[in-house]
Amino acid sequence: MNRSLAISGGSTLIYTGLAILMGVLPGIWLSKVPPTPGLKPLTPLEARGRDVYVSEGCFYCHTQQVRPLSGDKPFGRPSAPGDYAYQTTELLGSERNGPDLSNIGTRQSSSIWQYIHLYQPRAVVPQSIMPAFPWLFRDVDKLPPEEKAVPLPPQFAPGGTVIPNDDGKALVAYLLSLKQPALVPTQPGAVPLGPSRGPLGFDATKGAALFADNCASCHGAEGKGVPGTFPPLAGDPVVNAANPTAHIGAVLHGLSGNVINGQKYEAPMPAFADQLSDQQIADIIDHERSSWGNRGALISAADVVAARANEPLQKRATPAAQVSPVATPAPTFDAAEGSKLFTDNCAVCHGAEGKGVPGAFPPLAGDQVVNATDPAEHITAMLRGLSGKAINGQKYQVEMPPFADRLTDQQIADIINHERTSWGNHGPLVTPADITKLRAKK
Ligand code: HEC
Ligand code: HEC
Ligand code: HEC
Repeated sequence: MNRSLAISGGSTLIYTGLAILMGVLPGIWLSKVPPTPGLKPLTPLEARGRDVYVSEGCFYCHTQQVRPLSGDKPFGRPSAPGDYAYQTTELLGSERNGPDLSNIGTRQSSSIWQYIHLYQPRAVVPQSIMPAFPWLFRDVDKLPPEEKAVPLPPQFAPGGTVIPNDDGKALVAYLLSLKQPALVPTQPGAVPLGPSRGPLGFDATKGAALFADNCASCHGAEGKGVPGTFPPLAGDPVVNAANPTAHIGAVLHGLSGNVINGQKYEAPMPAFADQLSDQQIADIIDHERSSWGNRGALISAADVVAARANEPLQKRATPAAQVSPVATPAPTFDAAEGSKLFTDNCAVCHGAEGKGVPGAFPPLAGDQVVNATDPAEHITAMLRGLSGKAINGQKYQVEMPPFADRLTDQQIADIINHERTSWGNHGPLVTPADITKLRAKK
């Protein structure tokens, strides 16, 4: 009797001791880890999406923990304890049947892509084994005015129009909130140039791998795109153009609303400026320019640095007659400052990517005033605000506030130039003197 008491008592003691040492103490220690700087708590919508993520069993196949292994590199940086500060139960997952989703909001920021993929993964990833989740959507006969249709490729579209239901919207909001804040601020352009230039003048293996990781989900591994939904890059005029400015601009800042070979695309192309180094962007672009029958002139990382700084790029391999020398140097501006000011003052309404909020705040990507050659209307809207104007046939209930008393001429010029060079916009730049002039005018 005494012996069995000693055995059971002793093992209980050892078990309790180990549980405290290996479970409770690390738990207490980890709960004191501060959130990674830049990490945001979930909004109510995102929190609901997290519940959908759990109830649909997404974590059976997807992890949210990037290991410090080279194989995990495409998914983001290795996870840090502070990344989970706002997660009540961490959805780490254990089965890696699908890619890690810790940083999916950065890697695949297009909500439209996410909707198409959830509705039918094989519509965008032909070889996907992920199940479809059509019950997160509704098939309606008539599109309700406040909704946007999911632009499914025709062969995957049912009879009517597909829109996400509340669960679907919440889930995508949650997926897009999964962004790893940078542990060390990245410095665009600070990446040293790799020594290994292949026979083509660039590292073809790296270019192909980067394209597969970042672009193939929409444009297809063979650059064929998805008809009607994502444009092909094989034979694309921008990819084959001698002057690479538009090509680099599309990859850095994203693109939307263009008519490419007579076809308009619903989904925007995401921006990659913050995710890829200059060298990586150059390698991807050179991969596109030398694959699938394309014959565009190659570029270098220095071209991407120049494009980031908004310097005009050389045309190359073009007959001399076509190179038109610029008479007066185009004004330049501090792109980083413009971007920051826009984030602080405008993004709440117009969106960080200038997409606006349909029906509530107008998009600035593709906006007529932002792309107008004469910047007077653009500057006046900024100085004095705007209300009651119909933009692209749409009236807005809210007013655009005036900024004349809040920002200097230099700051207004920087913001305007940011808008005019971002998201596919191509408006001519303005100078602080232009603002001064219109401020003085009654
Ligand atoms: C049976 C396993 C399985 C389940 C369950 C599953 N997925 Fe997937 N998922 C995959 C596979 C495999 C891929 C890679 C192929 C592809 O992109 O479709 C993938 C890809 C993805 C991607 C794209 C990742 C990238 O890096 O491009 C996202 C986002 C995603 N899944 C979200 C979800 C969500 C949300 C759910 C739950 C509603 C879910 N998955 C359920 C297997 C699964
Ligand atoms: C979420 C889907 C998506 C991803 C990911 C994506 N693109 Fe795009 N891309 C698009 C769409 C949609 C367009 C057309 C945009 C428009 O209508 O203006 C486009 C347009 C382009 C164009 C311009 C074609 C033209 O003729 O104007 C280039 C070049 C391009 N993409 C390259 C890339 C590269 C390089 C990557 C990876 C670094 C990439 N894309 C990733 C969806 C995507
Ligand atoms: C409180 C929300 C809000 C904020 C903040 C805001 N805007 Fe607006 N903006 C609007 C609304 C609403 C309209 C449309 C007004 C109308 O239809 O008359 C608009 C219109 C515009 C237009 C005119 C578009 C056109 O085609 O006429 C520009 C340009 C613009 N905003 C730029 C900016 C910039 C730059 C900032 C930051 C300095 C900014 N907005 C901040 C809500 C906002």
